[in-house]
Amino acid sequence: MRTQVAIVGAGPAGLLLSHLLALRGIESVVVESRSRAYVEARIRAGVLEQDTVDLLVAAGLGDRLAEQGLRHDGIHLQWPGERHRVDFRALTGRSVWIYGQTEVVKDLLAARADAVHFEVSRTALHDVDTTRPKLSFVAADGVAHVVEADVVVGADGFHGVSRPTVPAPLRRTWERDYPYGWLGVLAEVPPSTDELIYAWHPNGFAMHSMRSPSLSRLYLQVDRGERVEDWSDDRVWDELRTRLGLDGWALADGPILDKGITPMRSFVSTPMRHGRLFLVGDAAHIVPPTGAKGLNLAVADVAVLTEALGAFFAEGRADLLDSYEERALRRVWRCTHFSWWMTSMLHTSGDDLDRQLQLAQLRYVCSSEAAATSLAENYVGLPHELAARAG
Ligand code: PHB
Repeated sequence: MRTQVAIVGAGPAGLLLSHLLALRGIESVVVESRSRAYVEARIRAGVLEQDTVDLLVAAGLGDRLAEQGLRHDGIHLQWPGERHRVDFRALTGRSVWIYGQTEVVKDLLAARADAVHFEVSRTALHDVDTTRPKLSFVAADGVAHVVEADVVVGADGFHGVSRPTVPAPLRRTWERDYPYGWLGVLAEVPPSTDELIYAWHPNGFAMHSMRSPSLSRLYLQVDRGERVEDWSDDRVWDELRTRLGLDGWALADGPILDKGITPMRSFVSTPMRHGRLFLVGDAAHIVPPTGAKGLNLAVADVAVLTEALGAFFAEGRADLLDSYEERALRRVWRCTHFSWWMTSMLHTSGDDLDRQLQLAQLRYVCSSEAAATSLAENYVGLPHELAARAG
């Protein structure tokens, strides 16, 4: 097999890249170790920045998003006894959209499934430091293939094979494992709130998000190492009511459709480019979910790389490929900082001094327009140029 761009991973980053390249007449092949059913069903992020939405719409992927996406002009920040709205629209003129990553992936697969080989095994990258890199894999039917390409892209997440293809002596990583994770539930109950609620509580962080007018998505901070089996539905609802509770407000409960625990990590690995191998999204960096940046950051990587590959294939220019890593990393570090900051402000760990500092910071964000604007402009997503300068 021969293609222009061989892509490892059919998550949102790999599929979006394949789709944007196809719109420019650039061929790609995508390999994915999981099944299509698995990829389409896994429940992940839910908040899209305006720039992400604009890019999806411009790429012809906006129909269901326009129908089912929910525009949100702010969030609530809360601590015991107080709930405050941070008004994104008033502070920045911008909004975010609630539309699940699961739905984004379905839209992408409707457009690009033909380019994807699902349930492949033994995926490996070869000769990435030459101009003829190769991708080898064993297809679902047991037949071994080698794809010759001009460029290979690792969009295969934190545990994928692409990042370790970069020789270890060249790699540099920065990492923080937080001593807690999120227990997330998807519940068949209309959201009890107009805006997402981010709640600080002495028992730990809690959040009320949503997926649609009839589906709520809720999260609880739990200790690292806790087991989902120890969280009965009743225990989950009791704890959510405690942590999200506010006088005059009630949390409606309903059947829980999905329950899982996600660890929390900040992680950046360089280089994001080695020869003809380029890494995008979680293959190169992980943010904790508190700032809702992970998916948006992957989309931003893909946007920068698409432009660079477009110039490379159409005009034979390598300069944008050469600056991919620097341009992507500026935004990566800005979002890494914002996600760490939101996480540190809202999750309980540490001692009583930490708790008082968190409450002081929350009060400041909710009373100073400058502090609120700082949160808001990061949350709605800094424009690429500004992120570059701010980085
Ligand atoms: C979600 O709806 O899954 C969600 C929303 C906001 C976050 C993280 C996750 O910060």
